[in-house]
Amino acid sequence: MLQFINLLFLIFTFSMVSTKNNVCPSDLDYYTIDLNLNCWYDPDVDASIPEIINNHGFNSKSYNVTTWDGYILEIFRIPSKLNETVSKPKSPILLFPGLLRDARCMLILGEDSPAIYYAKQGYDVWIANRRGTEYSNHIKYTKDDKEFWNFSFHEMGSIDVPTIVEKVAEVSKQPGNIIYIGHSMGTTASYIYCTLNSSHCANNLKAIISLAPIAKINHTKTPLLHIISLLESEIKVALNTLGIHRLEIDWLFKICQGAPFTSICAGVIEFFTGLSEPNIFPRIMPIFSAHGNTPASVKVITHYGQIIKNQGKFRQYDYGLLKNLEKYQSILPPTYNLFDIPVNVTLIYANYDLLSSKTDVEDLYSNLHPDRRFIVEIPRNGSAKYLSHMDFFLAANIEEVLYPEITNALVK
Ligand SMILES: *[C@@H]1O[C@H](CO)[C@@H](O)[C@H](O)[C@H]1NC(C)=O
Ligand SMILES: *[C@@H]1O[C@H](CO)[C@@H](O)[C@H](O)[C@H]1NC(C)=O
Ligand SMILES: *[C@@H]1O[C@H](CO)[C@@H](O)[C@H](O)[C@H]1NC(C)=O
Ligand SMILES: *[C@@H]1O[C@H](CO)[C@@H](O)[C@H](O)[C@H]1NC(C)=O
Ligand SMILES: *[C@@H]1O[C@H](CO)[C@@H](O)[C@H](O)[C@H]1NC(C)=O
Ligand SMILES: *[C@@H]1O[C@H](CO)[C@@H](O)[C@H](O)[C@H]1NC(C)=O
Ligand SMILES: *[C@@H]1O[C@H](CO)[C@@H](O)[C@H](O)[C@H]1NC(C)=O
Repeated sequence: MLQFINLLFLIFTFSMVSTKNNVCPSDLDYYTIDLNLNCWYDPDVDASIPEIINNHGFNSKSYNVTTWDGYILEIFRIPSKLNETVSKPKSPILLFPGLLRDARCMLILGEDSPAIYYAKQGYDVWIANRRGTEYSNHIKYTKDDKEFWNFSFHEMGSIDVPTIVEKVAEVSKQPGNIIYIGHSMGTTASYIYCTLNSSHCANNLKAIISLAPIAKINHTKTPLLHIISLLESEIKVALNTLGIHRLEIDWLFKICQGAPFTSICAGVIEFFTGLSEPNIFPRIMPIFSAHGNTPASVKVITHYGQIIKNQGKFRQYDYGLLKNLEKYQSILPPTYNLFDIPVNVTLIYANYDLLSSKTDVEDLYSNLHPDRRFIVEIPRNGSAKYLSHMDFFLAANIEEVLYPEITNALVK
């Protein structure tokens, strides 16, 4: 009895003096998070990007770049370890996040995250933020203006990417040596950049590594994309009338931080994007939901919807017959010619990804130049059975299932 009272007292004082717990190892533990000795306080949950980078022993830098059409984008860089004197130049890697994500997704796994992992491997790691994220502004418009949201991934690929790439080339003094690692929509943007602006791409990039590649969406199995293709027509008009130009999900994810939502949220994510094994693990739900959920413009969703409706034709935004004639001098929007991409492209896709399906990735592969294309399915072997769309930055076993493949691709 005395021991029990002592224990209670211990728990009580512990909860009084310790910083409030914010992560637990299992869904069950979240029910008693405040008093549960299995749970702890993870400073990354409440930290800014520079703080997260510092928490893991690295210096961070940020740069604001301005695109010719007025967007100011803040991009981040991990140039060195704390107290490290960099004697010889490091090779630059540019990480480019996907739809509904900003730079923070590349840091969710902390020590094991793509950004920190490749910084530890001695690369000069850069993380991009595109137009529309929290780290973007406009010289003329605010985020309440509909003009601010008047963009698709076409503008990201043809304007944001070259602007960001130029900054990386200039600061690192290594044009031609930048490895572009995109995830999902970050891959779409790289294909648009390198097809429309192929000499710029050839002069600055060494290679592209595409995680969960998205271009010719034709065999998708996720209910999410079918909803998106619906958006393409009537719903788009309705949203326009209502004055809605962006879709926000931040509020949705905020509830994922505690019981019983950690497991429910993981289930919902897997329903839309595909199964993972081991599943999205409970410990990262608070940091995942706190970081990097960013709005999507209705035009981005509509553009993907157009691709799905047209059975995977990867082409520019369809403005309708008259405006197409005016803008493109043709009735149909021009196709992005994937064959023109001038650098090596390694496609890495996951076996259970509902958004980036094997059939579509193989189709994309067959459209790339035969001398410069590589394709890899993960997991190749090892402990995991299924991997899906989010595992490229959330997988518990990411060091085992993904990084060996990226590291292989880095030398291609
Ligand atoms: C970039 O711009 C943002 C927004 O104005 C500002 O908060 C940030 O400090 C700027 N960063 C740099 C490196 O100038
Ligand atoms: C870096 O240097 C500072 C002071 O010079 C020291 O307090 C700190 O522990 C060092 N950090 C690392 C990671 O070595
Ligand atoms: C949106 O952009 C398109 C093409 O760039 C342009 O034709 C149109 O006028 C713009 N609309 C608004 C509301 O800014
Ligand atoms: C390629 O990008 C550069 C830099 O943004 C720009 O000056 C040039 O006009 C672009 N070329 C094409 C063909 O779009
Ligand atoms: C999409 O798939 C269908 C049937 O599987 C095929 O006939 C069509 O050519 C594909 N679309 C493209 C753009 O490759
Ligand atoms: C997969 O198996 C090969 C040999 O068959 C081995 O060299 C490699 O390390 C394994 N990869 C993983 C991710 O386990
Ligand atoms: C592209 O890949 C091929 C095959 O691995 C390699 O020989 C070539 O050097 C690579 N090109 C570049 C620019 O790295």
